[in-house]
Amino acid sequence: MRALLPKLRLPFDFPTTIGHKNHKSVYYVIVSVSPQIQSKTRKIMIRKTRLFTPGPTPLLPAAQFAMAAADMHHRTAEFRALFQKVLAQLKVFVGTKNDVLLLACSGTGAMEASVSNLTSPGDKVLVLTAGKFGERWTGLAKAFGCEPDVLAAPYGQTFDLAAVRAVLKPEHKVIYTQATETSTAVRHDIEAIAKLRDQVAPNTLLVVDGITGLGTTHFDVDGWGIDALIGGSQKAVMIPPGLAYLSVSDRAWAAMETTKNPRYYFDLRKERKNAVKGESAYTPAVALVAALGAALDYIAGQAGGDLEKGRIALIDNAQVNAAATRAGLVALGFTLFAPSSPAAAATAVAVPEGMDSGVVVKALKAKFALVAANGQGEMQGKLFRVAHLGFFDYLDTVALLGAMEHIAKDNLGLPVKFGQAVAAAQEVYAKAASSS
Ligand SMILES: Cc1ncc(COP(=O)(O)O)c(C=O)c1O
Repeated sequence: MRALLPKLRLPFDFPTTIGHKNHKSVYYVIVSVSPQIQSKTRKIMIRKTRLFTPGPTPLLPAAQFAMAAADMHHRTAEFRALFQKVLAQLKVFVGTKNDVLLLACSGTGAMEASVSNLTSPGDKVLVLTAGKFGERWTGLAKAFGCEPDVLAAPYGQTFDLAAVRAVLKPEHKVIYTQATETSTAVRHDIEAIAKLRDQVAPNTLLVVDGITGLGTTHFDVDGWGIDALIGGSQKAVMIPPGLAYLSVSDRAWAAMETTKNPRYYFDLRKERKNAVKGESAYTPAVALVAALGAALDYIAGQAGGDLEKGRIALIDNAQVNAAATRAGLVALGFTLFAPSSPAAAATAVAVPEGMDSGVVVKALKAKFALVAANGQGEMQGKLFRVAHLGFFDYLDTVALLGAMEHIAKDNLGLPVKFGQAVAAAQEVYAKAASSS
């Protein structure tokens, strides 16, 4: 057995040992460190993994405990009480009087449901896209036989509202867009798009992918007339992937009575019927529902038990962390990929010309066990992304920027004075704290 295992140099290879020092054999299990990872930092630091990806995001400990304890059947009074509580909390978290449904799938499942339930083959829809997730709307619309008109903003930018006005037509059954385009870390102005819809095509439904927008951006779902707003569990609500949730307006419910696209697992009317009884149409992701309840309790707890205020605090938290991160990275000499309309969910950072953003992502992981995201698709190598949505606080931001100072100096050869990124972030935090 011993011979099969890599040679380990205690204590720097971070094994856990099973057995006793008096036993002849000691078996090692390597925890979280690939034996290939070799860096000087390993010799002076334990490895503490920090997720800085814009989903999955770091898990809330209270939600993890709730998951572990969720040993219950879903057709019972206990689960029905939990499910109803979570659905009621979700309405407050989303900020709507509309129904909010919970589905056992990732966010894309709810995106698909908003296409299959709200359209018929041959329908004209408008897709407003500015990145990889916007492009997903086009793929989904085509998969269900719709004819999408596509307005594409260049990567790193949001839409020109005059261009939206020019392309939007009353015959569009639905507008599909994102609140936050996570692949470029751009924020879109949903309020302005909703107003344009009201002026130009008042009967057109507005469906917003808020998968990273929820918990990072303010929405007036009912006031603006958002017909479906979609969220995902592995984002601002601090729990693992596997749940999607979406609000559905009265006129979206009405549209579903006549739309013709096929749907079965994601038949939202079936889900609504069951939700009224505190159940889901099919076996729910019980443990994730319990985790979500605990996370929403935690968010409410940030504002003395008031979930609406807690949601606002969570959004403010993301916005301050995002502003501090942007200031710190700009102070280090980086260029923001989306300077004119940056998201609070994540920050996308362009690396200097001729450099590969993968170097930053790999170095953060190797030196600090910090997991950042590379660019997606053709943006790979050009930018890296760090998240602020969910269970991140200001001290996490300081840690990230401290690590980035080392990476900028040692891996990118930038002229770094230690403390310069952290100091810029501290200025942002201090200003925000003094004005709150
Ligand atoms: C804006 C946005 N839309 C859609 C998705 C897809 O969600 P999922 O991966 O949960 O299916 C993501 C995932 O990161 C996202 O950020």
